[in-house]
Amino acid sequence: MANFWARKSTADLLDEAAQGGGANGEAQTLKRTLSALNLVALGIGGIIGAGIFVLTGHAAASYAGPAVALSFVIGAVACAFAGLCYAEMSSAVPVSGSAYTYAYATLGEFVAWIIGWDLILEYAVGATTVAIGWSGYVVSFARDFGLDLPTQFVSSPLTYDPAGHAWSSTGAILNVPAIIVIVVITALLVAGIRETARFNNFIVAIKLIVIVLFIVCAVRAFDTKNWIAPSNPAGNFIPPNAGPGIYGWSGMMRGAAVVFFAYIGFDAVSTAAQEAKTPMRDMPIGILGSLAICSVLYVVVSFVLTGIVPYDRLNVPDPIAVGIDAAGVGFLSPLIKLGIIFGLTSVILVMLLAQPRIFRAMAHDGLLPEVAASIHPTLRTPHVATIWTGAVVAVLAGLLPIGLVGELVSIGTLFAFAVVSLGVLVLRINEPELNRPFKAPAIWLVGPAGAATSLFLMFSLPADTWVRLAVWLAIGLVIYFAYGARRSRVMVHS
Ligand code: ALA
Repeated sequence: MANFWARKSTADLLDEAAQGGGANGEAQTLKRTLSALNLVALGIGGIIGAGIFVLTGHAAASYAGPAVALSFVIGAVACAFAGLCYAEMSSAVPVSGSAYTYAYATLGEFVAWIIGWDLILEYAVGATTVAIGWSGYVVSFARDFGLDLPTQFVSSPLTYDPAGHAWSSTGAILNVPAIIVIVVITALLVAGIRETARFNNFIVAIKLIVIVLFIVCAVRAFDTKNWIAPSNPAGNFIPPNAGPGIYGWSGMMRGAAVVFFAYIGFDAVSTAAQEAKTPMRDMPIGILGSLAICSVLYVVVSFVLTGIVPYDRLNVPDPIAVGIDAAGVGFLSPLIKLGIIFGLTSVILVMLLAQPRIFRAMAHDGLLPEVAASIHPTLRTPHVATIWTGAVVAVLAGLLPIGLVGELVSIGTLFAFAVVSLGVLVLRINEPELNRPFKAPAIWLVGPAGAATSLFLMFSLPADTWVRLAVWLAIGLVIYFAYGARRSRVMVHS
């Protein structure tokens, strides 16, 4: 039985990275084909999605008003701290397990398992959430063209009432579009990393064009008079506070917790470390480059949107479409919707790319069944883990309602951010001489700030979400003690 606190040595990890994942005698290795540009595109592919296209409206209408642009700034700063820590770790230890591997090298096996298990919330549950949103947009897009898809096959058969903690039936049978998108993307991911990257580059280009088009067309209608609303008669940029978390500074903070979802995804770049051509140099470029580009776009989009539509009219599932109409360029609406569908597709793709690579790393260490570590002999992708992930996510996306899963993704991700932000400090202390091609500046400020902001945002999420996180981690502990702790491959280094 392994020592729970056993750490994996960075020497072993670097060896593993050099061998492309075949360090345990596994016959095949992942294929190194990704350039820095591919990695930036992967980050953007994972980041821009439901958050900016849907949650911006809700955050502005319910919590922040026009100051939602500042909520995005706060979200960006919080992610920048964590992003710098991820960048340092991924350039020093470029192995595909991401936060799971970093935790293994710094805080030991037990914490690593918890983070690996927790990352399922970010990636598998994240893909589920976005696939359900994707289905909603496809239905609405089809309706715009007079095609009414049968309701019993486009939504969840279940609905959940958080107030009464009760499930009930919706009368629908299955969310078929959500299942189809997962199956198609899974097939692409199995087919090869180069094919996946090409497809992602294409989608990212479309998504960026759509966002820039929105900004350019809408900015002409910008008028600060639109800041005026019944809850903000003076038209202030930050509406007066109307209770805890409703407008004012506290509302802006709550808005930041809500829109944090929009930033999730940059960390997924680190799971492609073993498929990058020059990971030590390019991992930080991919992580920080994508985060920087998306942060700027988010702040501009949210600022423009609340300047063309009074924020109290934005609590809708398609705030960008409302903005387009208000700017008098409604004819662009189908194009924007199509861009959004593409945008959500790449988020699903990146999450379904990240999840099996984490499973592969865990299986490689003996914490999950070995078959999950296998790599296809010709396609050089982790096909078994990818197909299993796709199958489970397809079932979840076909059956679950969106409200149940969204906040779990944020809390799971924030937890991983906090651990990586602390882990980077532990590694600086334990291995000061380790080669770090990228060193985060002012790490004694950045690391603690990354952990503190992540915890702060976690505390802004509802108690229900915390309960679900606790239940999820408890299940993970049972599995660890029943399986992983007995089969761990790692020698005791601590
Ligand atoms: N950041 C991703 C999105 O907004 C998860 O869809």
